[in-house]
Amino acid sequence: MLEIAGVCAAYGEARVLNEVSMRVREGEIVALLGRNGMGKTSLVRAVMGLGSPRVTAGSIKLDDTQLVGLRPNRIANRRIGYVPQGRRLFASLTVLEHLQMLDRGRTGAWSVRRVFEAFPRLAERQGHRGNQLSGGERQMLAIGRALMTGPRIVLMDEPTEGLAPVMVEAVEAILGTLRQEGLGVLLVEQNLYSALAVADRVCIFETGRVVWEGTPDELKARQDVLERFLGIH
Ligand SMILES: Nc1ncnc2c1ncn2[C@@H]1O[C@H](COP(=O)(O)OP(=O)(O)O)[C@@H](O)[C@H]1O
Ligand SMILES: [Mg+2]
Repeated sequence: MLEIAGVCAAYGEARVLNEVSMRVREGEIVALLGRNGMGKTSLVRAVMGLGSPRVTAGSIKLDDTQLVGLRPNRIANRRIGYVPQGRRLFASLTVLEHLQMLDRGRTGAWSVRRVFEAFPRLAERQGHRGNQLSGGERQMLAIGRALMTGPRIVLMDEPTEGLAPVMVEAVEAILGTLRQEGLGVLLVEQNLYSALAVADRVCIFETGRVVWEGTPDELKARQDVLERFLGIH
């Protein structure tokens, strides 16, 4: 479904991605791990066509469509959902308003009601404004918004960052649902245990390159890889 091949990208002259190749298939969760500053967010931004970093080489295809060079709205219209790192929301809009502004009834799009069923906490807080929400509630809302665009593939950039364990479990449960429904997910994670619990495959990034790829079980058996690239002892 999503095929990234030989992608290089740069901020100005500073190279940030080096010949990255990676695939996400339907019904598959691929976790992208790596220490801070290794280029994970940059890769996700490159896929979304945000312009910074600039893609200088390689190909990013969704099925047969080349995404490199398309405008961000054209890419999103290809049914790629994006949950950016840091959960950007509108401070003055309520939870319900954030969701209603997206309700376009596209194929496969989640309804407001379905988002509320998946995240009951959001239903309880539907009249609260963006700046009154906890970190976990913002994350649920950001995920709900992405699902309401009816994506076939979702890119999530550190969705469990800063969340309480019960909220991490809620995000993991949603990821399981998405996989069952045949969506593909590219999941950037700092939380190794969460990634190992939900992912079908894991890619590890080091200075803008994929340096290791395998299944969660294979990774658990590779203490050397965990130490060298993730600093886990
Ligand atoms: N807007 C930017 N301009 C210049 N350099 C950037 C910009 N954003 C990130 N970088 C640099 O690119 C590298 C990768 O960053 P990033 O993709 O955010 O890493 P990660 O998400 O893995 O923590 C870092 O060295 C970071 O300082
Ligand atoms: Mg990042």
